[in-house]
Amino acid sequence: MEGFRVLGGEKIEGEVCLQGAKNAVLPILAAALLPEGGCAIRSCPDIRDVRAMAQILDTLGCRCRMENGEMQIDNSGLCRWEMPEGLSKQIRSSVFLLGPILAKMRRATVPYPGGCEIGLRPIDLHLKGLRALGVRIEEGGGVLECDGQGMHAGDVYFDYPSVGATENVMMAAALLPGVTCVHNAAREPEIEDLQGFLNALGGRVSGAGTALIRIEGVKTLRGAAYTPIPDRIAGGTYLCAGAAAGGKVTLLNARPRDLIPVTEKLREMGCRIHTGESTVSLEAPERLRAFSRLRTAPHPGFPTDMQAQMLSAACCAEGTSVIVENVFENRLAHVADLQRMGADIRVSGRTAVVQGVRELHGARVTARDLRGGAALVIAGLAARGETLVENAGIIDRGYARMEDTLRRLGARIDRVREA
Ligand code: EPZ
Repeated sequence: MEGFRVLGGEKIEGEVCLQGAKNAVLPILAAALLPEGGCAIRSCPDIRDVRAMAQILDTLGCRCRMENGEMQIDNSGLCRWEMPEGLSKQIRSSVFLLGPILAKMRRATVPYPGGCEIGLRPIDLHLKGLRALGVRIEEGGGVLECDGQGMHAGDVYFDYPSVGATENVMMAAALLPGVTCVHNAAREPEIEDLQGFLNALGGRVSGAGTALIRIEGVKTLRGAAYTPIPDRIAGGTYLCAGAAAGGKVTLLNARPRDLIPVTEKLREMGCRIHTGESTVSLEAPERLRAFSRLRTAPHPGFPTDMQAQMLSAACCAEGTSVIVENVFENRLAHVADLQRMGADIRVSGRTAVVQGVRELHGARVTARDLRGGAALVIAGLAARGETLVENAGIIDRGYARMEDTLRRLGARIDRVREA
């Protein structure tokens, strides 16, 4: 198993050019099943979750090829509607394939995606949405047998704005005659990007970014090349690294408006933030100040995917920071490892109270989930001494060669084979 060895105490400085957003690219890869014809996804991040999704598409009969940062998908060989058990359990986003497979083949057999480190991750809202479109779903033995022979457009009501369930319904409805409306839809920028991709294929989707999305089904969709939005969570992660380690980090190819909840919190901590058309620059203060309270929520609230990184930055900030994780039920696993590094954090339920300390010290810690692992690397940059973050592979799921990016910023970090 690989790990990251981090020698802390160095300020970092430099530029990070953002690639396509993992959480935009994954549903877009699923939607690439829909058109008659191939697609090309530009600025595609070379990360484990994308590779796993491409492998799943290949098992369904497609051919995916990554070339010079562009993922080419040839879906002409699509011939299977059964999702591969092992691969589907590897990534949560395999459930996004339900909608497109049903749209194209009117049948789907999908293994029940397991929970993961951050929570049970049920898919009841995905199933509710698809059933509202006439899909008959039998659940048994860990497998979902879906029959879409009677699929039709219709109204879908979500009692929670689930990102994945919203995306599944958008893709399932794209080729259904009539108008489908999704009420209380998720409003994340990645939803807007999926709308952009579907419309680039010739779809008629509107309202993404609001709570009401309208999908007018079309007869066919055609292949297209598409550039997804830049990764706001990767960008926020590197801004947090600059805040915690000290120094100056500039994001290139960013969309500043996607980062507002994060940059506002970092400003509250005393960071100087400057934004340009497609850049965001952060200059850290000598010592960060605690933010009063951070509560994660569906967009446009504070993104849950940035909670762990902000918690790491708060560990050495002056004062007391309170973090409430409202989206996932088990997304504070990184706290125990931060405590081993000397952080003063008390957890009660979904709330973490962080009393800033003067400094953290290096330790051997373990990445337990993608963003928690990134948070431990950030803490290692700020800590005195050496930190070994085990299980770097889980960080590779969402960050392409994080160690190279941080080293280019002057951090002392390398990838090690663990004992
Ligand atoms: C997407 O997951 C992202 N993943 C997650 O990013 C992100 O944290 C999440 O949205 C929230 O923004 C991808 O886009 C691939 P949800 P998703 O459905 O779609 C509950 C990362 O680190 N829920 O909005 O699974 C669920 O348990 C990952 O990049 C149901 O109860 O998120 C959770 O508590 C982590 N039933 C809440 O809703 C359902 O049917 C939010 O889930 C679906 C979800």
